[in-house]
Amino acid sequence: MQDNAANPAPGPWGGPNGEDRAEIETALALLAVGPGSVFVDAGCGGGRFALAACALAGPSGRIAALDSDGKYLGALRREAEARRFRNVVILRADMTRGVPVAANAADACLAAGVLHMPMVWRALPDVFREFARILRPGGRLVVSLRLLRDAPAGPPSPDVRARRRLEDAAAACGLARLAERPFGFQRFLAFQKS
Ligand SMILES: C[S@@+](CC[C@H](N)C(=O)[O-])C[C@H]1O[C@@H](n2cnc3c(N)ncnc32)[C@H](O)[C@@H]1O
Repeated sequence: MQDNAANPAPGPWGGPNGEDRAEIETALALLAVGPGSVFVDAGCGGGRFALAACALAGPSGRIAALDSDGKYLGALRREAEARRFRNVVILRADMTRGVPVAANAADACLAAGVLHMPMVWRALPDVFREFARILRPGGRLVVSLRLLRDAPAGPPSPDVRARRRLEDAAAACGLARLAERPFGFQRFLAFQKS
């Protein structure tokens, strides 16, 4: 099984120089990822969050890292092997067609930097339904939202409309607002399944 002692510098964090460590810590803390967690990284890309979660969740945890683009997944697999993480499953999957994880199985699910992509944005209600399906009751979802401006006077800005669409999609499938953390040009929104 995975041995944290076998993973020396630069530590469990995904960024090559640890420069995105604070962002990763913020998201994984909102998700309460810890020993034994079952964590799904939807749209994992290079896997900076998934790899950090592997270290936090430890041998009794399970990480599912999924992305629709296979070119990221090979590199992630090699990195996970190099760090001797055996608690990760790497999946090629399009989240708009479903998330290949059993119902009520996940403690935590992350969708960072992916929901704004046109195909995903169009399918947002379906994607949120999938997130709600895979989460156990009490499980947490964190999504990132690019929010460039505060709500202005006058008609709602695209940012405000985007936030409403996210919040509506979450509420429609029983995900309640839990917390929010600004991070640079984006915000992490955390939800919890009732
Ligand atoms: C900007 S990257 C973010 C990667 C990672 N979450 C991070 O923050 O480092 C967006 C990722 O979402 C993936 N993606 C886009 N559409 C997707 C879909 N329908 N299903 C799964 N992954 C998707 C892309 O292939 C890309 O790796």
